[in-house]
Amino acid sequence: MNVAADFMPMTAADLAAVVALEQRIQRHPWTLGNFADSLAADHACWVERRAGVLAAFAVIMPTVDEVQLLNIGVAPERQRTGLGRSMLEFLCERARQAGMLRMLLEVRPSNTGAIAFYQHFDFVEIGRRRGYYPDSTGREDAIVMARKLSNNL
Ligand SMILES: CC(C)(COP(=O)(O)OP(=O)(O)OC[C@H]1O[C@@H](n2cnc3c(N)ncnc32)[C@H](O)[C@@H]1OP(=O)(O)O)[C@@H](O)C(=O)NCCC(=O)NCCS
Repeated sequence: MNVAADFMPMTAADLAAVVALEQRIQRHPWTLGNFADSLAADHACWVERRAGVLAAFAVIMPTVDEVQLLNIGVAPERQRTGLGRSMLEFLCERARQAGMLRMLLEVRPSNTGAIAFYQHFDFVEIGRRRGYYPDSTGREDAIVMARKLSNNL
């Protein structure tokens, strides 16, 4: 399902709501400082609000000819309604128009829902970073995934 969405650039005024949502959906959430740093670094940061309530966000870091999806989140009550797909399509289309060739991301192996989401949209594992993430029991690997931007989702 592809839902209509109206993605807006994230601003400092969104940060409190973004952090509150991040804390609801991630076991190891980004901090306010992480999001503020992304805004300050001019990463492409997006939000989707429904009736004023934050429903989704994403943070993208462009490099030379690739983009890195640093974070994406959908409010629990909106998950599995196609909003993640709409956000991903929006991000891929913008990247494609900017001449980017590939989207990359890192994900925890324990985040099976996100991995299934990415696989559904043709991301494939291209490597692992051993002990990349801090975890309550020590360190957790990062799976590195990528997809070409030449085809439509
Ligand atoms: C991952 C996430 C962004 C997906 O957003 P979403 O709006 O729920 O995704 P969609 O509704 O567009 O899902 C599209 C398809 O992806 C797959 N998918 C999405 N979430 C899934 C899950 N938890 N388990 C299995 N498949 C899933 C399904 O094939 C789904 O289609 P279907 O609902 O018709 O079966 C969302 O679950 C989320 O915010 N998770 C918490 C934050 C997070 O882990 N972010 C990623 C950090 S790396």
